[in-house]
Amino acid sequence: MDCTDNIKKRIEAYIEKNFSEKRRVHTYGVKDTAIELAKQYGCDLQKTELAALFHDLYRGVPENVLNYYVTHLGLDKKYLNAPNLSHGKIAAEMMQRDFGIDDREIIDAVSFHTTGRAGMTLLEKIIYIADAIEPGRNYPGVDELREIVKEDIDMACLVSLTRTIEYVSSEGNFLDHDTIDAKEYLEEMIYKKEKTYDK
Ligand SMILES: [Fe+2]
Ligand SMILES: [Fe+2]
Repeated sequence: MDCTDNIKKRIEAYIEKNFSEKRRVHTYGVKDTAIELAKQYGCDLQKTELAALFHDLYRGVPENVLNYYVTHLGLDKKYLNAPNLSHGKIAAEMMQRDFGIDDREIIDAVSFHTTGRAGMTLLEKIIYIADAIEPGRNYPGVDELREIVKEDIDMACLVSLTRTIEYVSSEGNFLDHDTIDAKEYLEEMIYKKEKTYDK
């Protein structure tokens, strides 16, 4: 991998030049929140910073362009006409191709930032929940998540995933199976933790 400082400078320059004000502020909000969580939970700070900076590289890109990438990068057809899901998958490919990122942990944190998945790493959880609670986020229940994550990042991710599943289902939209897998995985993890405390 190109040296981290160099990649960081390049993505920051890219953000300044190409992102809308709204997306830029969101991205830096995610970065600050993710770094705080990385310090609290003991995750690599440089990886956290890069994953946050790259996570929405393709957010806000027109749907026909995203569909073009889904087809030409050979991604699963379920990502066609699904910008909420495809933007992370495309970013995960393009950060390798255009920025030379070859660290699997960073790539996966970007790839799974909207869905989560079974076996989520700490970095994946940090980017997932930082995306949901950065200071610019304002929706019912966001303050509750901000409180929960101070105590238990698994529980915060579980609550957020559960809400997403309820919302997407109620809207009748396509739900990526990774989200259901992530919820079940975290439920099991939390159950096991509780059992350990019980002993
Ligand atoms: Fe995103
Ligand atoms: Fe985001």
